[in-house]
Amino acid sequence: RKGVYSHFMRKEIDEQPTSLRQTIEGRIGDEAALDAFPPGALADVETVVFVACGTSYHAAMYGSVLLRRRGIFATAMRANEFAHDPTPLSDRTLVVAVTQSGETADTLASLRVANASPARTLAVTNVIGSSAAREADDAVFIRAGPEIGVAATKTFSSQVATLSLFANRLECDGAGIGTALGREEIGDRDTAVGLDASADRDTAANSDRSADSDAAEGTIAARRATDGGTVSDAMRALPDDVATVVADDGAARLAERYTDADSYFFIGRGVGYPVALEGALKFKEITYEHAEGFAAGELKHGPLALVTPSTVVVAVFTGRDDERTLHNVREAQSRGAPIVGVGPESATEVRDAVDQYLSFPDTDPELAGILANVHLQLLAYHAAEIRDRAIDKPRNLAKSVTVE
Ligand code: M6R
Repeated sequence: RKGVYSHFMRKEIDEQPTSLRQTIEGRIGDEAALDAFPPGALADVETVVFVACGTSYHAAMYGSVLLRRRGIFATAMRANEFAHDPTPLSDRTLVVAVTQSGETADTLASLRVANASPARTLAVTNVIGSSAAREADDAVFIRAGPEIGVAATKTFSSQVATLSLFANRLECDGAGIGTALGREEIGDRDTAVGLDASADRDTAANSDRSADSDAAEGTIAARRATDGGTVSDAMRALPDDVATVVADDGAARLAERYTDADSYFFIGRGVGYPVALEGALKFKEITYEHAEGFAAGELKHGPLALVTPSTVVVAVFTGRDDERTLHNVREAQSRGAPIVGVGPESATEVRDAVDQYLSFPDTDPELAGILANVHLQLLAYHAAEIRDRAIDKPRNLAKSVTVE
């Protein structure tokens, strides 16, 4: 039931602090089990192949970035491609089907291909008893609760949170065949927030300041170095951080401001790239406007030709590699495009460089994409509302796509 809400989508956006609490409960920490996986259960996994469609594919892409940063070879494939053109699979491969409904035909077809190979299979799904949960070797449930709106919202957040916990489980189990390169990058992940990540790192390493004064400065880097904060700490804070974003009316204002653009481009890098794709999917799906997502560094390889003063560019910042994304923003800005930045509160250099800024509480850069995405959900929602679209049932689309 929608209750006081005019759309299920809006209700489900607002439910995210609660659904995320359900997702992470009892699962945080090195020794925590993840459904079928007690500590050590994934030690022999060398490579991970995600298969999924639509929004779930974007969550899968996000998960693959998190694994690669932990030195574990991982790739995400669209299930409709994998099912008929799979990657090589061995008994050290884990094929992970990410599917909210557990009934998407393309994803089930991929799962069946993997089940017929030596690979181990896992379903990451919202629905207990779904076909995916029954057919995979193992299942992990995202615990988001029922989602009625055709546009996936709270389930994306819960999928990404689950895949982050899954990445930690794999890392703790010593999975993968990666080199130190991936592991070294984790050092950056742990400390980099805002544009002056290296400065933060140096400060954190050499500082003898108290935890209190560091916290007063509000940098995660400082917090990590003094109280041993981890991604787990950021995960515990995530539901409250999402509540802060949900209560922000910034996206509603921007939806009003940019109603007559020809196109809406969404760009990002690292975990910001799948979030850019997801932001564009949500926007086109419910507003019927032209929207595309790009890897930020890809703009200059073609899409920049389309950028004019009538192209709104929405850029996702996560607190990692933000200088590079800012450089890509300037490429679009110099063609007259209005820029909306979505990024951490403390990223003042980003805030100063863009035309409009939607901020979220500082967090670990790995989880920042979840917070950025909630702003993008709200932007799409309000833009669709202004256009009086059928938000919960967009034309031509179904909640569950059960034909290949
Ligand atoms: O149930 P699934 O997660 O397997 O569904 C896959 C896609 O059809 C789905 O994510 C779709 O892209 C979203 N509903 C769009 O908002």
